Amino acid sequence: MTRTFGNDFLWGTATSAYQIEGAHDRDGRQDSVWDAFCRRPGAVFEGHTGDRACDHYGRMSEDIGILSWLGVNAYRFSISWSRVLPDGTGAINEAGLDFYDRLVDGLIEAGIDPMVTLFHWDYPLSLYHRGGWLNRDSAQWFADYVRVIVDRLSDRVTRWSTINEPQCFIGLGHQEGKHAPGLKLAPEDHLRAAHHALLAHGRAVQTIRAHAKVPSVVGWAPIGHISYPATEDPADIEAARRATFEMRNKDHWNNTWYSDPVCHGHYPEDGLALWGDAAPRVESGDMEIISQPLDFYGVNIYAGEPVRASEEHGWEVVSFPPGAPRTAFDWPIAPKSLEWGVRLLWERYGLPVIVTENGMANLDWPDEQGRVSDPQRIDYSSRYLAGLQRAMDAGADVRGYFHWSLLDNFEWAEGFRMRFGLVHVDFETMVRTPKASAHWYRDFIAAQRSGPTAKVGVRGAVTPGARKAI
Ligand code: FCB
Repeated sequence: MTRTFGNDFLWGTATSAYQIEGAHDRDGRQDSVWDAFCRRPGAVFEGHTGDRACDHYGRMSEDIGILSWLGVNAYRFSISWSRVLPDGTGAINEAGLDFYDRLVDGLIEAGIDPMVTLFHWDYPLSLYHRGGWLNRDSAQWFADYVRVIVDRLSDRVTRWSTINEPQCFIGLGHQEGKHAPGLKLAPEDHLRAAHHALLAHGRAVQTIRAHAKVPSVVGWAPIGHISYPATEDPADIEAARRATFEMRNKDHWNNTWYSDPVCHGHYPEDGLALWGDAAPRVESGDMEIISQPLDFYGVNIYAGEPVRASEEHGWEVVSFPPGAPRTAFDWPIAPKSLEWGVRLLWERYGLPVIVTENGMANLDWPDEQGRVSDPQRIDYSSRYLAGLQRAMDAGADVRGYFHWSLLDNFEWAEGFRMRFGLVHVDFETMVRTPKASAHWYRDFIAAQRSGPTAKVGVRGAVTPGARKAI
């Protein structure tokens, strides 16, 4: 691959607190909804929990060492709200906050820029008992928590991502009941919870802007259905655009229900028509809060589907050929989803894009010599990054790429059976073994750094790019 990403491009890996930290009851941490959900019989594969996870809490220095060996210049991690504020609001747990303080110091010392995700699904259980996301006060509670983090870390942390994938924690957690807190709410209720999560996002952005000690780069990390054109025919490209941004059905896997309010200041018309009376009550001033200007659009993209133009509905899905490659999660391997997802999101929302997650689950284990070979992950990453490069060649302003994940970890309802790491973790001994893909990623990043600099700036505050047609 030729080198066009540039010296300032963020090359990182991503993780989240509940998935790696463990130490669920150490040093004053209290439960989140995920701790409670894991204890529910049948909720998580084979009753796995994040109680120990990867014991990142006890092995933070070792993990920073691995990041340093990888040569990444950035690392995206999340903060456990109930480790810092055990009751969700009020008294600060200094020991919990110290953990993140040391993590940030360790990263910076290793030359790795921290990107903090403020909420990656582990909502404090005590606040859940006060109504959780259904309570409009959630936005205030979140802002207060963010203030604590910003006061402590913003002298060193400049990159912030507010909420991770509202589509999942609302859709899977409050509509489908497959993730914590395991609710199957009526539409007016899960939509209200979603509205409050959007308000929380906006309040977090305001809090960072008002209180950060140095200029900050602020974004978020949604996910959504990505459709890409089956061919480069303009009619298929238009079909992909429509399929990606239409409110297709009454689930939360769309892009616009969340991103239009955040980036354009209103819910999409087709979504309002689809949900009808169940749509949330938008109070005056809500949309101003929700649509705070952002510096980047973080996006998590794993898969997508090809579509083509169709006379009947404007677009139709093109089936993958029989036997087409799929990951252990059964997600199709579709490098064009990264290429076109990034292009289409850049075109619609006009914000520099950071790929905040991309990666694959694979059936990895150490061989008799203790090596973990995962050629599928190398091939996946190589193809997806080529797709990302094509998106940049086509004009999309992309500032970084975070591989999901650094370590094999607790994959939510799937427990430990879905391994997403560049680094294998033995969950009994906690031994970490870099897989072949980790070596590959390390070499890839090193190669990206060893040529002339391309024109992609990321350091310091960035201003939203001009909206550009693809
Ligand atoms: C994303 C989540 C992340 C991880 C990956 C595989 O939806 O943000 O925590 O589970 O999927």
